[in-house]
Amino acid sequence: MTFQSHLLEGRTALVTGGGTGICRGIALELARYGCDVAITSRSSEHLDPTAAEIRATGCRAVAVAADVRDPTAVQGVVAKTVEELGGLDILVNGAAGNFLCLAENLSPNGFGAVVDIDLKGTFHCAKAALPHLRRRRGVMLNISATLHYLGTPAQLHVASAKAGVDALTRVLAVEWGPYGIRVNGIAPGPIADTEGVRRLLDDAAKTRAEQTTPLQRLGLVKDVSDAALFLCSDAASYITGHTLVVDGGLWLTASRDAFAAPSDGAGG
Ligand code: NAP
Ligand code: COA
Repeated sequence: MTFQSHLLEGRTALVTGGGTGICRGIALELARYGCDVAITSRSSEHLDPTAAEIRATGCRAVAVAADVRDPTAVQGVVAKTVEELGGLDILVNGAAGNFLCLAENLSPNGFGAVVDIDLKGTFHCAKAALPHLRRRRGVMLNISATLHYLGTPAQLHVASAKAGVDALTRVLAVEWGPYGIRVNGIAPGPIADTEGVRRLLDDAAKTRAEQTTPLQRLGLVKDVSDAALFLCSDAASYITGHTLVVDGGLWLTASRDAFAAPSDGAGG
């Protein structure tokens, strides 16, 4: 284990999108460090197996099916979490949608669906969790991306939504800091064996990403969950409003290919 095993003992978390992929990894990692965890997404088929894995760590688990686009449903998820687990210390907003589509082919509903899930869903969850996070001087962690740092083609909808998520992270850090609530984000690069990578990168693009990444590999779910543990723990007590990039340095290299070092090492 990367941290001391009792790091989050006695704490409770709600992880949206926690049944699959990166956020399943975060939910399980929180539980391994002693945190009781509620997870939510639309499909019980995604949630129930992960809830069983959380219980296998010895922690309590709650699984509630809901769509983060529905503020009333989100209120219900938070209420159930607090009722079953006794409070809420950590909210992780990871529910998201993605597909490749050039802007010229994107319908209003296609653009809106992703903004509604990623950005408005994060807002609904933050609002519902606020009174509980305030009571516990809790933590919020928003899962973002690096797509909007540059002009990533076929990702207008997601780049717009995640740019909004980053803005939300900064504004809520300022507004809710006086309540003792820290609000941070993580911007993962391509993470192997996830739905995000399956949807966005074919084999050639994956190989290119591996070669271009300074750390020479795709990310692992554990790379993101370790960063999440740090930001949710007291080790990050004075960090708020920050979105931590976990991408092996990839976004820094994009568009810099034209400046590749000459092979004779003579410099630029
Ligand atoms: P994933 O497994 O598909 O995770 C997305 C989750 O969101 C699913 O569990 C899905 O569950 C849930 N979800 C989707 N729409 C929802 C809705 N309307 N209401 C509630 N839950 C909903 O994909 P992932 O690749 O691990 O991505 C996880 C997070 O990391 C996302 O925020 C993504 O943007 C971010 N990210 C991923 C990568 C990557 O390389 N994978 C890179 C950068 C950022 P249901 O289908 O059951 O609703
Ligand atoms: N290309 C272009 N448009 C697309 C599309 C694609 N590949 N997939 C969906 N859309 C459009 C639809 O056509 C629809 O617009 P329309 O009404 O104008 O036709 C709109 O997006 C909503 O689609 P719908 O299938 O009704 O949405 P949904 O709410 O059932 O699902 C999605 C939301 C589209 C984001 C779906 O991909 C999803 O559920 N994703 C969750 C998992 C995921 O994306 N994981 C990766 C996270 S990084």
